Amino acid sequence: MIALGRFLSVEGIDGAGKSTQLAWIAQWLAQQGIAFVQTREPGGTPMGEKLRELLLTEPMHLETETLLMFAGRREHLAQVILPALERGDWVLCDRFSDASYAYQGGGRGLPREKFIALEEWVQGSGLNKIQPDLTFIFDVPLAVSQERMANGRTLDRFEREAADFHARVRAAYLERAASEPERIRVIDANRSLEQIQTELAEILSTLL
Ligand code: ADP
Ligand code: TYD
Repeated sequence: MIALGRFLSVEGIDGAGKSTQLAWIAQWLAQQGIAFVQTREPGGTPMGEKLRELLLTEPMHLETETLLMFAGRREHLAQVILPALERGDWVLCDRFSDASYAYQGGGRGLPREKFIALEEWVQGSGLNKIQPDLTFIFDVPLAVSQERMANGRTLDRFEREAADFHARVRAAYLERAASEPERIRVIDANRSLEQIQTELAEILSTLL
């Protein structure tokens, strides 16, 4: 497969401001005249959206949760992400497998070998591994995310987890970013929207 489009993903702990920045990135891409597909995980396909509904509401075993995340991802890659990249479109994905590493691994303690095995199964390995070309992790101190989350919205099964869960998710995201500095850019999201977006535009411009 020759992938022509660019694959972007956005990540962060709940309440970091990811949705706000995602909308801004979509607008930026449109302004550049780039054809892109905006999608999300869990979700992104009709089946994936059904899995999302279950994942965000239904208590389940950690391994079930992880397997469903990766099952939805397999379908998402086959039906949406790879066809878009092959057409030359860009893909803007609201969360991808770094979220499984952070939430199921960091947050819930799934052993890393299991994550690596699933990632290899679903995304391949070596030069053939399908990974985003660029991932933004929006990072804020826990107190900031909790305050932003408390801002009047209904919380899902992950958002309702205790503060120490979110602290472990954040630590896992930062650890993952440190291990893949070329791909993953940590954005200090505890700044004004304007400051954050200036930095995003600079980084995105390097992909053009
Ligand atoms: P997420 O998708 O990461 O959960 P949202 O983008 O929904 O977060 O943002 C959560 C809340 O924080 C919203 O009310 C949003 O307006 C606010 N917010 C987002 N980014 C900032 C920022 N840089 N400064 C102040 N408030 C912000
Ligand atoms: P999120 O993307 O934050 O959606 P919204 O902005 O509508 O709240 O919600 C998805 C939740 O799923 C989020 O709390 C993180 C979690 N998640 C995982 O635990 N593992 C994964 O692999 C993915 C993709 C998401």
